[in-house]
Amino acid sequence: MAGPKRPIRDGLGFFGRFLRNPTSVGAVLPSSRYLSRALVGHLDLAPGELIVEFGPGTGPATAVLHGAMPTGARYLGIELDPKFHKLLGTRFPGFDFELGSAADVRQILAQRQLPRPRRIVSGLPFASLPPAVQDGVVDGIVFCLRGSDGDFRTFQYVHAYGLRAARRFRAMMQERFDGFERIGPVVRNVPPAFVLRYWGAK
Ligand SMILES: C[S@@+](CC[C@H](N)C(=O)[O-])C[C@H]1O[C@@H](n2cnc3c(N)ncnc32)[C@H](O)[C@@H]1O
Repeated sequence: MAGPKRPIRDGLGFFGRFLRNPTSVGAVLPSSRYLSRALVGHLDLAPGELIVEFGPGTGPATAVLHGAMPTGARYLGIELDPKFHKLLGTRFPGFDFELGSAADVRQILAQRQLPRPRRIVSGLPFASLPPAVQDGVVDGIVFCLRGSDGDFRTFQYVHAYGLRAARRFRAMMQERFDGFERIGPVVRNVPPAFVLRYWGAK
């Protein structure tokens, strides 16, 4: 699916978006396929179930999800950047993408008459997101996953793992989830990153 020129083109386009919006894009390059595979992991989705992705960007994890989802499972990506949103729509024609903030997931699901998802995969740059956005996103995740056996998966770059905003996010998630697992670091990514998985929303 990915031609040899696509990663280079995506990388250049992504870097341009980073220069325009460094805090919300939060990375200089799209995730590698190694990080995307570690993030998506085993989905264990039933046909008809919904999976939600926050911040798909140019779609490296979306491509892995695309190959891993069972027939009939549904996908919704929520992306803030209009250029990425447009690109995703042409790249993944069978998938739904909302142009908006992951902090509004509850309202977005209601407007689209979608059920709460059991799996949420996130590429959001929590280490650079303002506290109010972090709070809104965490509330949204808990709303989606409370009472379910599903999980939330995200990644944090190794070099930014100790930053105040990254620690703040993990502390909040630790308070609101019973289960936590850290995978990696995945070194075949620029920069290397940990995958974080949370389950058991309180
Ligand atoms: C670090 S990039 C990751 C992109 C992609 N998932 C990847 O792994 O290459 C962060 C992405 O989150 C998006 N983003 C930032 N804040 C967001 C928000 N509040 N809601 C939805 N998307 C957001 C950015 O536009 C960007 O596409």
